Amino acid sequence: MPHRDRRQRALYTVPKLADYTQDTLTRETQRLLDALAAEGAEVKTEEQLRAFRDRWLARKNGIKTQINDLWLKAAPMEPRRAVGQVVNGLVTQVEDAVTQRASWVNTYGLIGAVLKEQDVPIEEARKQRFAAESLDVTLPGTRRSLGAEHPVIRTMNEIVGIFRNLGYSVGDGPEIESDYYNFESLNFPPNHPSRDTQDTLFLAGQEKRPQRERLLLRTHTSPVQVRTMEKHAPPVRMVIPGKVHRHDTADATHSPIFHQVEGLAVDRNITLCDLKGTLDHAMKELFGSGVKTRFFPSFFPFTEPSADVQVSCFKCGGKGCRICKQSGWIEVLGCGMVDPNVFEFVKQNGYDPAEVSGFAFGMGIERLAMLKFEIDDIQLFYQGDVRFLEQFA
Ligand code: DAH
Repeated sequence: MPHRDRRQRALYTVPKLADYTQDTLTRETQRLLDALAAEGAEVKTEEQLRAFRDRWLARKNGIKTQINDLWLKAAPMEPRRAVGQVVNGLVTQVEDAVTQRASWVNTYGLIGAVLKEQDVPIEEARKQRFAAESLDVTLPGTRRSLGAEHPVIRTMNEIVGIFRNLGYSVGDGPEIESDYYNFESLNFPPNHPSRDTQDTLFLAGQEKRPQRERLLLRTHTSPVQVRTMEKHAPPVRMVIPGKVHRHDTADATHSPIFHQVEGLAVDRNITLCDLKGTLDHAMKELFGSGVKTRFFPSFFPFTEPSADVQVSCFKCGGKGCRICKQSGWIEVLGCGMVDPNVFEFVKQNGYDPAEVSGFAFGMGIERLAMLKFEIDDIQLFYQGDVRFLEQFA
């Protein structure tokens, strides 16, 4: 095994010269150059190059310095000229060898180190490296398909964007909510039948807690209204997108988890006109400037008066079609003027119902996305089927 032999060879050291005859000079010159060549050939990596350079060129005790000291400076006057020529020639060769090896390491270093372990000759190593790094620029590239927003998130962002443009802030709140925020502070009194409309999922094992502290999965984003008013004194204008949960069996129009965007605006002198103008504008932005809106009396515990909002069918323009179930109108959201009973819970934070008024609204994102994109099964949003999703890319 040749490279075992190489490892075992003693490391070259610069001898003192016994005499300065031509013979001695030639022999020692040859020994030094052999060592230089052999050591240089071993250098494959940056680290080895640094060691090689230091060993031969280091100012303090490199071989170059040593031949100057031991051979030239030690020589008596008479042969010094001849020794000087020999040493100068050697110094140049040492410097050249280091420079050449540095350029070799730059070019072949890494693969050289690997191939060296396999005793591949340098020329062959070079060929292999070129082959490995050659590039067929005519090959087609690797196509990376772009991700895209999910249609629900896209619709949510679109709605949030519409209100941002009106100067609304964006907030959020917890999905695990207390009875107090989800119900009581929104004017659903304890044990009142209005709670039955919410198909609530409660967290188990909380019988020992007072009712208002019991935890549940929020059934709507409305609890963030009270949380917002606790944190910010009036005026506020806020939209709150988020996930909500209901104890519903999944079918084409229901999902136990879905998304809503909540809105809240409270200031002095906010009226029903502000509510109607704001939502009319928002619906025109969302469905096209051709749609009309109309407000129907409704009921929510936390608004008084309350309304359901309908838009004229953006598909048929109100003539009647499959989307609007031939009625010409589509129900899109709930809204109303914030009930004074809700303000009572945050009165100490500046929400005296005698001083301020406001409106609130809430909409289901999936429902709006289904209308907009004419999707007839809500489950398609959650199945992750790429054939469905890539239509929105
Ligand atoms: N939270 C209601 C629901 O989930 C939606 C809603 C209706 C929110 C009227 C409101 C509102 O803020 O004013 O059914």
